[in-house]
Amino acid sequence: MTRRIVDLLRHGQPAETVTIKGWVRTKREQKEFSFVEVNDGSSIAGLQAVVNQDVPGYAETIKRVSTGASIEIAGTLVESPAKGQRIELKAESIVVYGEADPETYPLQKKRHSFEFLREIGHLRSRTNTLSAVFRVRNAASTAIHQFFQERGFLWVHTPIISASDCEGAGEMFTVTGFDLNKVPVTADQKADFSKDFFGKHTYLTVSGQLEAEIMAMAFSNVYTFGPTFRAENSNTSRHLAEFWMVEPEMAFCDLEGDMDLAEAFLKYIFKFVLESCPEDMEFFNQRIDQSVLETADNIINNEFARVTYTEAIALLEKSSKTFEYPVEWGLDLQSEHERYLAEEHFKKLTIVTDYPAKIKAFYMRLNDNENTVRAMDILAPKIGEIIGGSQREERLDVLERRIQAQGLDLAEYWWYLDLRRYGTVPHAGFGLGFERLVQFMTGMSNIRDVIPFPRAPLDVEF
Ligand code: 4AD
Ligand code: MG
Repeated sequence: MTRRIVDLLRHGQPAETVTIKGWVRTKREQKEFSFVEVNDGSSIAGLQAVVNQDVPGYAETIKRVSTGASIEIAGTLVESPAKGQRIELKAESIVVYGEADPETYPLQKKRHSFEFLREIGHLRSRTNTLSAVFRVRNAASTAIHQFFQERGFLWVHTPIISASDCEGAGEMFTVTGFDLNKVPVTADQKADFSKDFFGKHTYLTVSGQLEAEIMAMAFSNVYTFGPTFRAENSNTSRHLAEFWMVEPEMAFCDLEGDMDLAEAFLKYIFKFVLESCPEDMEFFNQRIDQSVLETADNIINNEFARVTYTEAIALLEKSSKTFEYPVEWGLDLQSEHERYLAEEHFKKLTIVTDYPAKIKAFYMRLNDNENTVRAMDILAPKIGEIIGGSQREERLDVLERRIQAQGLDLAEYWWYLDLRRYGTVPHAGFGLGFERLVQFMTGMSNIRDVIPFPRAPLDVEF
């Protein structure tokens, strides 16, 4: 049976006979034998095999072995005399599945820039950094499900095709319903292609929250974890047009409960990832950002800072830093302000609450002062906002007023209002931008490098 290289590196014992399959990272040919490092994607380090010239077919086979080739090696584990590795594999047989011409294979053994790797998106997962990112991404996804499942939350599947704009921000991609290039359509249909989902206006979802609220009103505690879409043409290192969001929603819960859950949630994910991907996290700390492990430790062991928006504005006004964007009560916090608060002032994850009603979505619960809402954003050093959440407006009359005040059509939200007509309860939830979390955990500076197939302006290759 083929063994995973990560298991052999961690637990393999001398004298065990094993078979491995993977891709060659390096080959070093000596006079009478060759060192071949094989990686199967299960760990950052490959397993070094020593292939002696007495291995059957050595002369012809070793010529075909080069960086990127796919191979199978069977043999016996032995203690390694080399530094930095406990064991190595003494090959008894070697098979090449597919060669990789060294003249043309783009991933030679050297550091490539992330920009270059984005141009070869179909090969970049074979590099140390990207493969480590995607293993951390996998571990964080597992942690998310485990966290909620342990607490009795139901994972609900909310739709991708949606008829309502949850955020009311007009950042939705229209679903055209059919391929205008392939299906014969009339001129009228072409003129109004936005109505082509069987006669209705539909969009790709910007958030599963409103549907999650429906489900929370039946199951108490639920969460979504799926792709969401934003048609914002912002070409930054923190925005994607398609990103994954995790959205818990809890009935009988207020903003304090929401913040407590978010804090426990983030601590849990960091702990889980440190335990399941120690080598990858060590790699990020050494090669990408030397504060990765310290940051993880800080998050796991310290309480997050909590301030109101009004207090945050006062802190920004008092700071000696010059900001590009104005700081003024009533204006939204820009990424530079968010980063200042988390990175320089509090030096930890920072929860900002009670934003002005005017700059937040219609569904957030209005405070008694009528000026602010029960919103909370969680800000991370180097990234800015990673979580946006709130206590929801559960009072029918106030909600109706807020929908109208934001210029939205009451009739379109009839079902959402029904939730307030029938068995309404205080409830709250939040949305975690999954890629921003992975960026924060790994220290990767561009969001395009923490998702296997980024969808952002300029880079749809596949
Ligand atoms: O703050 P947002 O817009 O909140 C919502 O969508 C709420 N309905 C969530 C809820 O309460 N259930 O988005 C939530 C998070 C942000 O904090 C950010 O981390 C991420 O989603 N996000 C993006 N990530 C990558 N690219 C983009 N274009 C993003 N827009 C938002
Ligand atoms: Mg937000």
